[in-house]
Amino acid sequence: MNELLVGQPEAIEKILPFVQMHQAGLSPEGRPIGTVLLLGPTGTGKTRTVEALAEVLHGSSKNLLKVDCGEFQMEHEVAKLIGAPPGYLGHRETQAMLNQAKVNSVASDDSDISIILFDEIEKAAPSMTRLLLGILDKATLRLGDNTTVNFERCLIFLTSNLGAKAIQRANKPDFGFEAMLPAPDPTNADKAASIGMGAVRNKFSPEFVNRIDSVITYKPLDRDACGQILDHIFSGFTSLIQHRLGMRGFRIQCTVAARNLLLDQGTSVDFGARELKRTVQRNFIQPVAALVSQGQVPPGATVILDAKSGEFNLLLRHA
Ligand SMILES: Nc1ncnc2c1ncn2[C@@H]1O[C@H](COP(=O)(O)OP(=O)(O)OP(=O)(O)O)[C@@H](O)[C@H]1O
Ligand SMILES: [Mg+2]
Repeated sequence: MNELLVGQPEAIEKILPFVQMHQAGLSPEGRPIGTVLLLGPTGTGKTRTVEALAEVLHGSSKNLLKVDCGEFQMEHEVAKLIGAPPGYLGHRETQAMLNQAKVNSVASDDSDISIILFDEIEKAAPSMTRLLLGILDKATLRLGDNTTVNFERCLIFLTSNLGAKAIQRANKPDFGFEAMLPAPDPTNADKAASIGMGAVRNKFSPEFVNRIDSVITYKPLDRDACGQILDHIFSGFTSLIQHRLGMRGFRIQCTVAARNLLLDQGTSVDFGARELKRTVQRNFIQPVAALVSQGQVPPGATVILDAKSGEFNLLLRHA
């Protein structure tokens, strides 16, 4: 998982024990395998962590059941999750979103663990938080048609941006050059964790907070981490070209100057790796796509991203 998730070692350290406990058959009964809360700034790898775990356990990042709590902000929307009771108007149409078949379908031959992700839990309506409490506490959910869903083989992840702004302020000195980079000071990490948990305690009941087995606070990504993510983006683009274009494929390269400029423009404490992805998209992937669609990149050629005096430019070397 280390290759899939950059700069967040705490995440792997805290998640692995739950997987091992389950694999050893020593997970407690009548509860999910584990409930892990992921806190911290946007674009730092919270969702990526869960996808990476799915990749490691099941061979595909798609083997997870994601519930966007933002879709259940209103009380009446919560019915979509559990389905309407029989006899209720329109009940034929409302199949429960969280049914046993769906939960089981994200396990695989490689592992019987179903990964469930409740994204942005702070947005959930109070009645959804109550349903969630039942899942975390007893590993069951009663549906509208009175059947129950069992979550004992589930590893549950909750993500939230609660406290993220305050964590960022604590990480970011107010002035000077330092203000541009997250400080690597370890006491900052503890401070961030306690700010994050404080925000969670303010929002959720003590019972809810008590059901959480482990909390991971994500760090802002520094330039070094962004450099590694940049390498991932480039190798991803290389395999996409090979996969999609086959014999018509070409090579890509990036000069040191271009790499530095991408990192200058794409390292953002406020938007995390999303800003880096956008920067690469705008300055490299889209211009390359334009050249390809105009038939200007012959098979076997090399497209090189270079930079001079703050501007990107593409060079083409024929095979
Ligand atoms: N630590 C990381 N390691 C590798 N890739 C990362 C990391 N952080 C972010 N990325 C990249 O940036 C993208 C966005 O990250 P992700 O979706 O995990 O953000 P998030 O922390 O869930 O943010 P949000 O709070 O906005 O949901 C990912 O798809 C991934 O490509
Ligand atoms: Mg996310």
